[in-house]
Amino acid sequence: MLSGDNSGRDGAGEQGLMDASELRSGLEAVRAAASSGLAVAGDEAGVDALRTELLGRSGRLTGLMRQLGGIDPAERPALGVLANEVRNEVEAAIGQRLNALRSSGLSDRLEAERIDMTAPGRPVRVGHLHPTMTVERDLREIFHAFGFEIFEGPEIEDDWWNFEALNIPPDHPSRDLWDTLYVAEPGSWEAGSPRPAEDGSILRTHTSPVQIRVMQALQPPIRAIMPGRCFRYEAVDASHSFEFFQVEGLVVDRDTSLADLKGMLEEYARAIYGEGTATRFRPGYYPFTEPSVAFDVACLVCGGPGCPACGRTGWITILGAGMVHPVVLRSGGLDPDEYQGYAFGMGIDRMTMLRYGIPDLRLLMSGDLRFLEQFPEGR
Ligand code: PHE
Repeated sequence: MLSGDNSGRDGAGEQGLMDASELRSGLEAVRAAASSGLAVAGDEAGVDALRTELLGRSGRLTGLMRQLGGIDPAERPALGVLANEVRNEVEAAIGQRLNALRSSGLSDRLEAERIDMTAPGRPVRVGHLHPTMTVERDLREIFHAFGFEIFEGPEIEDDWWNFEALNIPPDHPSRDLWDTLYVAEPGSWEAGSPRPAEDGSILRTHTSPVQIRVMQALQPPIRAIMPGRCFRYEAVDASHSFEFFQVEGLVVDRDTSLADLKGMLEEYARAIYGEGTATRFRPGYYPFTEPSVAFDVACLVCGGPGCPACGRTGWITILGAGMVHPVVLRSGGLDPDEYQGYAFGMGIDRMTMLRYGIPDLRLLMSGDLRFLEQFPEGR
């Protein structure tokens, strides 16, 4: 070099003329700088910077090529060839390095997203039945074994199905037994003045309307049970809810008698509570059965002497029942002179509480998984 080069770069053209050997070593230095620079360039931006430094318009190689004019003409062609060789090599190396960087980005991604087909599967969380539904399912199975078919009816009924068809005329005092929730007339709720729907829709207060639907749909002999959700206008406490579950039973045939009803219910109590379970019938009242009975079993908690669960009576009433009233048979399209039947209805929420020792009905209605997960039986 004819003059000093403080930048440390070989061959920055402005800084004076080079002879052939200086130019040659300058070109070799660019070649070496390319290969060492590319080896450490970790990303595309680094390679681009190197490209500008070596090949750019004011880069090192361009500067060296400008020197060619001042070189001894005898040496010039060989150095020209070398300069082109270096340019081509550096360009190719840069291109290769860029490709390698791009595809290693891709392979990083492929590695990160790799799916290990041999890894064991994650366990699937399996839910289970609500305890009340476990009880309902047991009842379905018991009555199915007794030859009963299972039917479900709508949760929204109207006055005729829920009351009149069941021998409960409008203004009949017994309606007080079933505090009714009315479906609001569309729009009236939103308008802040809810009033009963004009089409008479109500939430059924018991599953008994399904008796009528079953009688209308089938010909005797009929043996049916009808589980379902019911609603009443109740203040909520440990033993009351505005929402609860019943299972209704209906048997209609020729010559069906109260003795058949007693035999069937005693059989049922033994099936669900065990062979030795003591039972009793007491007179009851329902408008849709005549005569009507209440059916008790010996207290499931104390077994007889009396405890808080049975109100110290030693007995627990598990269902209401009776012989189907002739008016009800007629509502179902059947001739009471030809057919008789018996019906029974039971609330299964309290059965569930007794079975699992659950002290408060609100727990059953809460939907709280910390509570529900304690009853995994109903899988
Ligand atoms: N429907 C009655 C109730 O909800 C129960 C019942 C059903 C009684 C069938 C007699 C016969 O209380």
